[in-house]
Amino acid sequence: MQDLKGRVALVTGGARGIGAATAKALAAAGAKVVVTDFNDGTATAEAVGGAYLKHDVTVEADWIAAVAFARETFGGLDILVNNAGIFWMKPIVDTALEDFRRMQQVNVEGVFLGLKHAIPAIAERAQQWDGGGSIINLSSVAGLVGQAGGLAYNASKGAVRLMTKAAALECARGGLKIRVNSVHPGIIDTPMMAGAAAAIAERTGEGSNSMMERFAQSHPMGRLGRDIDIANAIVFLASDGAAFMTGSEVVVDGGMTAS
Ligand SMILES: NC(=O)c1ccc[n+]([C@@H]2O[C@H](COP(=O)([O-])OP(=O)(O)OC[C@H]3O[C@@H](n4cnc5c(N)ncnc54)[C@H](O)[C@@H]3O)[C@@H](O)[C@H]2O)c1
Repeated sequence: MQDLKGRVALVTGGARGIGAATAKALAAAGAKVVVTDFNDGTATAEAVGGAYLKHDVTVEADWIAAVAFARETFGGLDILVNNAGIFWMKPIVDTALEDFRRMQQVNVEGVFLGLKHAIPAIAERAQQWDGGGSIINLSSVAGLVGQAGGLAYNASKGAVRLMTKAAALECARGGLKIRVNSVHPGIIDTPMMAGAAAAIAERTGEGSNSMMERFAQSHPMGRLGRDIDIANAIVFLASDGAAFMTGSEVVVDGGMTAS
């Protein structure tokens, strides 16, 4: 088990799915956790003995308030998990410009604002930890390889992959002792994926269960990922065990992109 005692973490999109599992895993490793989400995340916060704040990652004022909330509630900030995100698939010619923009607004601008406002706060306390402060950005296998029907999501998660490297270099070269890494999940059994399977099933006439089974079989390991599979990788990246990792891509995909 990684030891995060004394650290304060902020997890965006923590009301459900990977964010909720990550909040629980960080707390189990000893961190104090601020759970933020634009939907109600009180249940997650209560389950982890943390604190919930309503926070839309696309709103800069909300980010300023979230960092201030972490300071006021737990004394500072050491770990940021930029997890909030949206997903849908659509052919390019059927994608409305405003929908494309909204995808980038949540998945890309949300991460940019998180980096911008959390880095100064994390830097204040980073020197005291062997592994420094840590920022983990949720990209995807869709940030590594293209998908038919996935242009808007591919654009957003590819951007997160390279924003992570730019931020990692800027922090390291600037002597800030903050590591920045991206995590690339395969298909994970969360409400997001259940919703996507239902939408695709409706379009294609295929049953939603058989869609989920197809998703499962797209991993050589023959199953869907679990939220805890991703949370465990995030906890590792947050910890001193990952002290020499920055700008790296941690792929957690049951072998999907191995070939
Ligand atoms: N589930 C997967 O298969 C999968 C695969 C690869 C990457 N990811 C990424 O992992 C992250 C979490 O995915 P998940 O499956 O847990 O999703 P989810 O939809 O189950 O949960 C996402 C959470 O983010 C919140 N959210 C959405 N937009 C927000 C906003 N503007 N501000 C604040 N909160 C917002 C939602 O309310 C929700 O609680 C996302 O970035 C997603 O793209 C998921």
